[in-house]
Amino acid sequence: MKKIICLPGDGIGPEIIKSAVDVLEFVGKKYDFDYEIEYFPFGGSAIDEMGHPFPEELKTKISNCDAVLLGAVGGPKWDNEKVRPEQGLLQLRKHLEVFANVRPLSVNKSLSTHSPIKEEIISGTDLVIVRELTGGAYFGEPRRLLEESALDSITYTKNEIEKIVRYAFELAKTRNNKLTSVDKANVLATSKLWRKIVIEISNEYPEVEVDHMYVDAMSMALITNPNRFDVIVTENLFGDILSDEASVLGGSLGVLASASFSLDGPNLYEPAHGSAPDIANKNIANPIATILSLSMMIRHSFGLDYIAKDIENCVDEMISDGLVTCDLKKENYLTTTEFTEKLIEKLGYEKR
Ligand code: IPM
Ligand code: MN
Repeated sequence: MKKIICLPGDGIGPEIIKSAVDVLEFVGKKYDFDYEIEYFPFGGSAIDEMGHPFPEELKTKISNCDAVLLGAVGGPKWDNEKVRPEQGLLQLRKHLEVFANVRPLSVNKSLSTHSPIKEEIISGTDLVIVRELTGGAYFGEPRRLLEESALDSITYTKNEIEKIVRYAFELAKTRNNKLTSVDKANVLATSKLWRKIVIEISNEYPEVEVDHMYVDAMSMALITNPNRFDVIVTENLFGDILSDEASVLGGSLGVLASASFSLDGPNLYEPAHGSAPDIANKNIANPIATILSLSMMIRHSFGLDYIAKDIENCVDEMISDGLVTCDLKKENYLTTTEFTEKLIEKLGYEKR
């Protein structure tokens, strides 16, 4: 029996998690797959209920599950808290040691019609951003915020860089053997070390073609030439920014799933987007990113590739049938719950 810890979080989090869990319930029955879900407040809702975004009680429970499914955290309500909801998310990532954040974007024909980029440029885009998730500016010390000055530190050790770079090379081997490493080695010391290590490790992977790009050039190339990329590996902050940029190539931030891996689990699955407090409780959020994060969980944590494929195929069909939420379509769009119901209907057709 697989044990899932589910953290709906804040804003649209509970709505999109409900969609994903409805889908999980359906495929669980369809394929006779047994699991158990335990829910915990997390982020802002945990501040409200328990006084901390990542409560101690959850910390002890979470190490014993098979996977964690997270909605989203944060919102203006908690902007002035001593420990903000986002801090809880960073602590969770650190606690689980999920150093490799994988955000795949494949723009198939149906999604390309929703892209803001011209079809001839976007077509064929199939890339994965591998973002280092437990180091860099997000965790660097010292840090301080004073009235007249502020300080953040970007730190990386050789060991941290090697771990994520090896992960990316291994992933490239399972795909098209192409790796683009993104840094700012013309300015930053951490990027100089990063590039040196990528070059060293590339000797162990002669079959993988490697190139290096500065992050500013990369942000341009993602728009002008997205289909030249396969696996992109980069540090935490660059990966955060570039993955938001990449996500809209597919028409909306609401379609980008993500999985965060540690060396031996449990892994963390969460959509790449935030809690979107402005559209919370309106039943209009796009649940695709969360549903696809769930399918990554089913594939990577449970090894049930055929179930993941079934979900992904049906999501593709939904998009190509124009059955999408309002972020992807101006009229005749579906609500969150309608999308979920229709998707489940599709999953129910016997032909698969
Ligand atoms: C993400 C989010 C988070 C991040 C925020 C909510 C702290 O933007 O998962 O990309 O910056 O990592
Ligand atoms: Mn982000």
